[in-house]
Amino acid sequence: MTAKVDRAQIKANLISNIYVINSFLDLVRNGKEKKIIFISSPSGDLEFTRVTGIANVVGYSASKAGMNVVMAKFASELAPEGIKTLSLSPGWVNTDAAKAVTGDPEIRKFMLSVFRKIDPTVDGPISVDESVTDQLQVVQNLTEADSGKFVTHRGNNNWF
Ligand SMILES: NC(=O)c1ccc[n+]([C@@H]2O[C@H](COP(=O)([O-])OP(=O)(O)OC[C@H]3O[C@@H](n4cnc5c(N)ncnc54)[C@H](OP(=O)(O)O)[C@@H]3O)[C@@H](O)[C@H]2O)c1
Repeated sequence: MTAKVDRAQIKANLISNIYVINSFLDLVRNGKEKKIIFISSPSGDLEFTRVTGIANVVGYSASKAGMNVVMAKFASELAPEGIKTLSLSPGWVNTDAAKAVTGDPEIRKFMLSVFRKIDPTVDGPISVDESVTDQLQVVQNLTEADSGKFVTHRGNNNWF
């Protein structure tokens, strides 16, 4: 592995998230919804990584993949208390972070070329409004049977 592993990503996206969830657990227990949602990424999906062939952002991807597994662990542990968890990919979304990357025409071209290996119709990031509306729908529809899964904002494995 020649790519640099960003330890800060592992700390922020994986280790710190476990502490955050444990810290908020009593509030979730006493809440009405009893749901814990982790905002994941296609980067944390094995098949997405394999098909797109994206070799960089190793720390980011590993942290998201690791947290997906941790969310499944939380789902098992907390099921007896009626608490459900979900790892949720927001899609390719036109946020500040995405704009900082896709603002460069060469990077945008590269991203489109690799993303089109997954979905030939993808044309660019979706709006924040569309992503959030879809994500909220998925969160609202979360059932006990689906607790611990990793799904996209479409509620399935459609990444875009
Ligand atoms: N945009 C996409 O296409 C896309 C695709 C897949 C997954 N995601 C996921 O969606 C989530 C939101 O991303 P975004 O696109 O909205 O990014 P963004 O515009 O950069 O927002 C990231 C947010 O995370 C906070 N943050 C960054 N580093 C942090 C740290 N070390 N500790 C605590 N907070 C930190 C930032 O806080 P400040 O504003 O205070 O800096 C900011 O509010 C992320 O988990 C990302 O992995 C996004």
